[in-house]
Amino acid sequence: MSDLIACLPGDGIGPEVMDEAVRVLERLPIDADVVRLPFGGSAIDEAGDPLPAETLEACRGARAVLLGAVGGPRWDRSPVRPEAGLLRLRKELDVYANLRPATQGEVDLVIVRELVGGLYFGARGLRADGTVFDTCEYHPVQVERIVRRGFELAATRRRSLVSVDKANVLDTSRLWRRVVDEVAQEYPNVELRHALVDSFAMELVTSPGRIDVAVTENMFGDILSDVAAAVTGGLGLAASASLGDGGPGIFEPVHGSAPDIAGTGHANPTAMLRSVALMLEHALGRPDLAVLVASAADDALGSHPTPDAGGRATTREVGDAFLASLDERLAQVALR
Ligand code: NAD
Ligand code: IPM
Ligand code: MN
Repeated sequence: MSDLIACLPGDGIGPEVMDEAVRVLERLPIDADVVRLPFGGSAIDEAGDPLPAETLEACRGARAVLLGAVGGPRWDRSPVRPEAGLLRLRKELDVYANLRPATQGEVDLVIVRELVGGLYFGARGLRADGTVFDTCEYHPVQVERIVRRGFELAATRRRSLVSVDKANVLDTSRLWRRVVDEVAQEYPNVELRHALVDSFAMELVTSPGRIDVAVTENMFGDILSDVAAAVTGGLGLAASASLGDGGPGIFEPVHGSAPDIAGTGHANPTAMLRSVALMLEHALGRPDLAVLVASAADDALGSHPTPDAGGRATTREVGDAFLASLDERLAQVALR
């Protein structure tokens, strides 16, 4: 039976970069059915819900979810926001481990971001006096499972893990640090250090080359992964894999719907194409094709840079160059 890939284009540049990803999926020698589903702001407009029931059901039954981006100024005052659909999808699929690789030149790091806890999902509300609050909560079990992912990943790489927190201020961070130290006992071959999030943000900018794997909670990981993207070529290149324990993963660019360039036809599809590579590796059991896709994406952006990468190429031109490079690479493999 063929694998189902649930594609959620979303809003803004989401559908623009998704079109290139779908062209790739149709070209690759994989046995997969691709279905496009309503999601985000466009689904609010159509159905009043950013995550319609049929979309969630299809995602649950899929081998993997490929996601563009959601949100935009059009829905900034909407009572139900597009972003709420994304958070609910992550929670429903329990994809707690968000891997955000950042590579360029000497830099080769991965941020392992906890994705279904913390401030994003804690109790929130409005008090009678007008105070509005969000709360950050973590259960030790939630910390343990993400920290373990961090150690496991580091063990397959340069065996260096930095755990990022704010243990000088926050109780959740002190819990985090305690759990990290406990789990560390099981990974004597991985070199562990703790870093405070503020100085780690600086380290990401000044010496990203010394970082291998960084594990951190949801909100810190959100912010730090945009910083990591900025020092390795920009948001147009940053991909991610959101994984749980066995169910379908979500593969999505780190960037958003980029309202400032949506509709110009100049969005960089590299982050989306690299997300396809992560999907091939983590969900479809095809690390061989993942390498080809990642390399072809580098070729395409090198020969046809979009404006964010210092050139003038359109999304479609990058996609065309990508397919040409992929065809060549597939032919070379076939000849071997
Ligand atoms: P953004 O990531 O959309 O854009 C930030 C900057 O990076 C913009 O200048 C944009 O033009 C540029 N950029 C981003 N992706 C690019 C690409 N592929 N090619 C070229 N340039 C690119 O962040 P924002 O503007 O703060 O947020 C816009 C909307 O996106 C908000 O509604 C936000 O909630 C949403 N958002 C969604 C996701 C997601 O769906 N995963 C992620 C982040 C932000
Ligand atoms: C991301 C985005 C999302 C997040 C938003 C859109 C909910 O910024 O995937 O990085 O904060 O997780
Ligand atoms: Mn973000």
